[in-house]
Amino acid sequence: MKKLTTQVAIIGAGPSGLLLGQLLARQGIENIIIERVSSEYVLGRIRAGILEQGFVELVRRAGVNKRMDREGEVHDGFLIWANDKLTRIDLKNLTGGKSVLCYGQTEITRDLMEARSESGLLTCYESSELELHDITASKPYLSFEHAGEKYELLCDYIAGCDGFHGVSRTSIPENLRKEHERVYPFGWLGLLADTPPVNEELIYCKTQRGFALASRRSATRSRYYIQCSLEDRVEQWSDTAFWEELKQRLPPDAADKLVTGPSIEKSIAPLRSFVCEPMQYGNLFLVGDAAHIVPPTGAKGLNLAASDVATLSTIFERVYNEGDKQCTGQYSAIALRRVWHGERFSWWMSNMLHRFDTAVDNALAPQTFERFMHSELDFYLNSDAGKRVMAQQYVGLPYESLRVSS
Ligand code: APR
Ligand code: PHB
Repeated sequence: MKKLTTQVAIIGAGPSGLLLGQLLARQGIENIIIERVSSEYVLGRIRAGILEQGFVELVRRAGVNKRMDREGEVHDGFLIWANDKLTRIDLKNLTGGKSVLCYGQTEITRDLMEARSESGLLTCYESSELELHDITASKPYLSFEHAGEKYELLCDYIAGCDGFHGVSRTSIPENLRKEHERVYPFGWLGLLADTPPVNEELIYCKTQRGFALASRRSATRSRYYIQCSLEDRVEQWSDTAFWEELKQRLPPDAADKLVTGPSIEKSIAPLRSFVCEPMQYGNLFLVGDAAHIVPPTGAKGLNLAASDVATLSTIFERVYNEGDKQCTGQYSAIALRRVWHGERFSWWMSNMLHRFDTAVDNALAPQTFERFMHSELDFYLNSDAGKRVMAQQYVGLPYESLRVSS
């Protein structure tokens, strides 16, 4: 049995764990990350790519912004193609100058991994059998196996950044945790290709055939999604079938410009809204996907993880630099307020932009629900106030500050 000690033990080397680790390191707070899979495996996951300004500032605070600032594309707006009409949401004008940055999550993760290995901080990739112990005691610890050895990692605090399928959330006793969940009756089939994107700005499409999204990673790399059935398997979708279906869901001008090519990656993701309350138990703090999931329609997943990280890193800064241990009690309430706003926005966007074939809730027939949502979208897109409401949420709501402890 090998023993390790640190101040903050971080479970998971996804974007949440890596960003938290980097911010803490900059503040002189020791941390060790324990990750189940290899770094290559983590980097193999293709996820969304729209960053709010709050996220971008956090990455700058972590000092990992060089490539993001060079290669990220500033997007001042996005388009919605619905009911044969194209509407631009002018983010910049509607929000007093705000925009979003288009830069893949995989790239952020790669940059954070590089910074971590340069800083010499310990990350135990390919660790297994991880368990949390004495979470409510003053010195909690993790046990795990790594490279054929058993380990115990003693710490002051545990950051559970281990995603939706991690062990942190379920370490909170069931009677103290409330989980909210909505699973949507469809999925997204995503395809990444080295082809020039159809448009400079993202296009969200609501059509009779279902939702589609034209996104991008650069001037030469496209990312597209189409709504698909939950029964669909990715092997059933040839690249040709994908391109044909996408073409039918894009606005005509974009469809004409569509350049097809072999996929670099193709996968199906289910859509889910999920929140675990509280996000804290004793000295354990849940961060990012470990505590909440949003459907990708509002591009909020990574951005909500970032606001958790912002709050938690500020808390640890206060604990270690000012000796204020009491402020840890503020985490869950602050994080959850912003999470619920992101959940509501993502749910709202998903409801308005998808095609619903199956029952959506107990009270409404799918066609009735569709009519409500058609009208909802029509109302918001045909009013400046409506578009402003959408834009303000898309660029991201402000982060909440900590209160002074009494
Ligand atoms: N032990 C160690 N590591 C674990 C364990 C475990 N038992 N279980 C899970 N992990 C690791 C996973 O292998 C993964 O690398 O935790 C990491 C969690 O990373 P993510 O799932 O990417 O979650 P997070 O870092 O919170 O990122 C949030 O990712 O899913 C998107 O939309 C989401 O964009 C958002 C972002
Ligand atoms: C993506 O580029 O992968 C992406 C962009 C916006 C979304 C979802 C995904 O809303």
